[in-house]
Amino acid sequence: MSEIKLHDANGQGPMAKMAYRNTLNMSCCYFLAIFLLTAFLTSVSAEVSTEPPRGDDMHLGVVTCAGNTCHGANAPLKDSRVQQNEFIIWHREDKHAKAYTVLFNDASKRIARNLGIKAAHTEKLCLDCHTDNIPEEQRGKRFQIDDGVGCEACHGGGERYLGPHVSGARTHAENVEMGLYPAEEPEARAKLCLACHLGTQDRLATHRIMGAGHPRISFELDTFTHIQPRHFKLDKDYKERKGSSWNGAQIWAVGQLLAVERFLDLFQEAKYQTAGVMPELAFFDCHACHRPMKNPHWAFRESSGLGPGTIHLNDANLLMLRSLLRHISPGQGERLHKAMFHLHQTASVSLPDARKAAAAMRPLLAEIRKTVLQRQFTIADMRALTADLVQEGLRGDYNDYGAAEQAAMALGALTEALRTSGALSAEKLERMEATLKEINEVLKVEHAYDPQRMIKALNPIETILR
Ligand code: HEC
Ligand code: HEC
Ligand code: HEC
Ligand code: HEC
Repeated sequence: MSEIKLHDANGQGPMAKMAYRNTLNMSCCYFLAIFLLTAFLTSVSAEVSTEPPRGDDMHLGVVTCAGNTCHGANAPLKDSRVQQNEFIIWHREDKHAKAYTVLFNDASKRIARNLGIKAAHTEKLCLDCHTDNIPEEQRGKRFQIDDGVGCEACHGGGERYLGPHVSGARTHAENVEMGLYPAEEPEARAKLCLACHLGTQDRLATHRIMGAGHPRISFELDTFTHIQPRHFKLDKDYKERKGSSWNGAQIWAVGQLLAVERFLDLFQEAKYQTAGVMPELAFFDCHACHRPMKNPHWAFRESSGLGPGTIHLNDANLLMLRSLLRHISPGQGERLHKAMFHLHQTASVSLPDARKAAAAMRPLLAEIRKTVLQRQFTIADMRALTADLVQEGLRGDYNDYGAAEQAAMALGALTEALRTSGALSAEKLERMEATLKEINEVLKVEHAYDPQRMIKALNPIETILR
């Protein structure tokens, strides 16, 4: 079930659908996007557990946004601050537009049958992630459930902001006051996406659902923002209007932080603790169990300290966060390392104790949150971080597929952030691009993942960055 998508400068690759960096005027792109389907890693702190951006406002329906003088233009309008062709991009290229429709396909029928539910498209669980499943009383006259994950699922119900925002005279802050969701802020965006791309206290793609045939889910905020594909331009005007100074590295970092928090919270959630002999396997590394036996590749990992033959929690986001902290706040990085090690160790002995260990990590995460949110990522930061991620890989910490996949997305995001900062010469960029492509190859077939090949593929990066 794995598919790795690349896109190249000419938009010729399988990933041609995304404008990733086109709007930024870049002529080259390497960028690597990996979608696969995976396990989760994240957690919701109490304040994150509600589902953004679902406030009390009425959702008016995609058709309300899609007029051709509104967001339904055929091509980006020259004199407009926003592209105004957002609807066309969403409708034609964005999987969210089809998210409801897939509930009628054969895969969904099979999942429904296996779960013993009547139909996927009437099941709350499926609808919560596959459409804008707001309560009846918030559905406006033109709202349609079959729009899938539409504009207001991400931007908030238009009841109050629709009228005023049309004039274009309102500031972004005023629109936000009227119910527009501040999706430009990395933290708000991460909460929004993770609600469906990881889970909340109310919804999770559990191992039971996976077992019935649901794809593995994996997510990285910066990568997925760009491959959605992006329907906004990160130009000067955007930055002024939205007060945005965030680069891709920061968006990546905040995405990792929130994913770790949510993972820890969901792992403690009573609802997701099964009564049977097995724990909720959605929290564990899928490939610890699901991999062929003929090419054994167990190796000791200093991050978990676990011996052979144990299942381990999916720690891909924790590994990313640890790399980040080792660079920007080594003390916190060391504490995170210890806490994570302890979590792994207890999870192999006693789940109730592991949940306590997860709870005990939350105050540390609160401190880390401050560090990460305050950090402005410089070019030096991005280089050091890239180097650390590579080091980690060379030490063998990407022995499992989920971690390797997160690392690949991180390297893609950081390379792109370095490129937009003008920090890479054309020659270095070309070499990075070739390296990322090779990493992509290594990850292409999930079940044939070979950690040694990953190490080889990572090797050139240190010299390139030097
Ligand atoms: C926690 C949120 C969540 C829940 C609950 C959920 N899904 Fe999904 N589903 C996703 C996400 C996210 C993806 C896309 C994964 C990716 O490609 O990264 C997806 C993908 C799919 C796909 C593959 C779509 C494609 O384009 O090939 C099918 C089919 C599917 N889901 C069906 C279901 C059904 C049926 C249910 C209810 C039993 C369900 N889902 C419940 C989030 C969810
Ligand atoms: C899956 C989530 C998602 C969906 C669905 C979605 N958007 Fe967006 N949209 C975003 C994100 C993320 C941004 C960038 C952050 C921001 O500026 O709010 C954005 C930005 C925008 C912008 C701001 C551009 C700017 O320069 O300020 C407009 C306008 C927009 N979207 C319109 C739409 C319309 C219209 C639809 C429906 C056809 C839609 N969006 C569907 C996530 C989404
Ligand atoms: C209401 C739930 C929901 C929210 C919120 C949401 N998504 Fe999704 N997303 C989905 C589902 C469901 C799919 C799978 C659709 C399908 O394959 O038909 C999906 C698919 C995607 C895909 C395509 C993945 C692939 O395998 O091709 C990307 C990229 C993506 N989402 C990015 C985002 C980003 C970025 C955000 C936040 C700005 C976000 N999503 C918010 C539910 C959601
Ligand atoms: C502790 C081991 C273990 C872990 C970890 C695990 N699984 Fe499973 N998985 C199983 C077992 C056992 C089955 C049932 C196999 C059977 O029915 O023959 C299964 C079944 C499945 C199936 C159905 C396979 C089929 O042939 O129908 C899918 C898909 C699946 N798991 C996906 C996942 C994903 C995705 C993850 C990570 C989020 C994961 N699993 C984590 C042990 C595991």
